[in-house]
Amino acid sequence: MAKPKKRYVCQACGSVSSQWAGQCGDCGDWNTLVEDAGGVVTPFQAKHNLQSGGRAIQLVGLDTDIALPERTGTGIAELDRALGGGFVEGSATLIGGDPGIGKSTLLLQAAAKIASRGLSVAYVSGEEAADQVRLRARRLGLGNAPVQLAAATSVRDILTTLGEGPAPALLVIDSIQTMHSDLIEGAPGTVSQVRASAGELIRFAKERGTALVLVGHVTKDGSIAGPRVLEHMVDTVLAFEGERSHQYRILRAVKNRFGGTDEIGVFAMQSEGLAEIGNPSSLFLTHRDESVTGTIVFPALEGTRPVLVEVQALTVRLASGATPRRAVVGWDSGRLAMILAVLEARCGLSFSSCEVYLNVSGGYRVQDPAADLAVAAALVSALAERPVPADAIAFGEVALSGEVRPVAHGALRCREAAKLGFGRAMAPAAQADTGGLQLAGFKSLGAFVDHLLGR
Ligand code: TYD
Ligand code: MG
Repeated sequence: MAKPKKRYVCQACGSVSSQWAGQCGDCGDWNTLVEDAGGVVTPFQAKHNLQSGGRAIQLVGLDTDIALPERTGTGIAELDRALGGGFVEGSATLIGGDPGIGKSTLLLQAAAKIASRGLSVAYVSGEEAADQVRLRARRLGLGNAPVQLAAATSVRDILTTLGEGPAPALLVIDSIQTMHSDLIEGAPGTVSQVRASAGELIRFAKERGTALVLVGHVTKDGSIAGPRVLEHMVDTVLAFEGERSHQYRILRAVKNRFGGTDEIGVFAMQSEGLAEIGNPSSLFLTHRDESVTGTIVFPALEGTRPVLVEVQALTVRLASGATPRRAVVGWDSGRLAMILAVLEARCGLSFSSCEVYLNVSGGYRVQDPAADLAVAAALVSALAERPVPADAIAFGEVALSGEVRPVAHGALRCREAAKLGFGRAMAPAAQADTGGLQLAGFKSLGAFVDHLLGR
């Protein structure tokens, strides 16, 4: 009988190879190839197909009655918003983010709020000693909250302890990379350990109806460290983002089996913990000066929520023929190059002898194509040294042809700006509802530039 061929499966991307290697040839991750016997069908199995001998499963229609999952509201409105209404009983939530961004702080605050309502909450820290967590709780003014705290890393110890009494309503594991399962070899934090530990914890949560929250570390490239499968195993993935040097933090649902993924929660890190920011625009808009050139306010959209940010541009003319720099913070550099090219090719403006710097205020990151027109306004204003009226906002998508295209939710963006005291909108001509703002509508970038330069 021929020896069954060995095969190795990358635990990060799932690619299969016939030889073991230290680095996966497909995704480039290290030490992720694991021997996998799967796919080898024994002669015994081949004789017996799978079409008999099983148990009958129940097939139901889509219209049968369903029990909506019970949710545990956290009492932190911004967190509930990102979760779609609170933690779901018997579900697993993964929260990822850079070290020091505030994951432990947020979860400790949520745990304390839930525990104060009389629900049982267990907080297991594998990173900090119990005293450290207690000290932090005291600093946050939560020292008296009835949270059950433990410093542990053995999944068996944790589940044995919790399995004895009534299961907690909420179980926080901080972090999954420090957990260790003795069912499997390897150091904590390795792909297989993370997967096995998470699997056991999730099984406990599903069986006992506990809402499980796992904290996950994030690698340099922004993905949650450990196997991608971790994201598939949980029901909800939240990303906690922000610049550590800035106060604000955004909690974003990346995946949510129990709700939408377009809502965000906004917080500010303060000395007494994370504060909720009900009106994010107030955070990103600094005091605006009438006479400053190169700045414009852009109404960005986060899910269904408008967030007003300031786009700033600076152009510096170079004397010699050196290659000018283009530096971007908070926006896509490829998109900046495109807007510069359209301004050159379609509007006759020349940036080729200028260094160009673009920044979005407050460390905010814009991912919305509607920012094109605002970026163009900031660039033109900087180049021509003409300020844009301080009570104006700009939004619209710019095509390579120079056409200004309508964008989603224009009315929502305008209404938010009107609420904050803005008076006019520079927008695509097709924008009908401006929520009371005076509209300057444009079909082409050329017309927009003429308007800005008073031509
Ligand atoms: P932490 O929650 O420990 O981050 P993570 O668990 O994501 O690694 O947050 C740590 C940072 O937050 C730390 O640099 C100090 C800061 N911080 C405050 O500014 N105010 C506070 O009240 C707390 C508890 C932390
Ligand atoms: Mg932490």
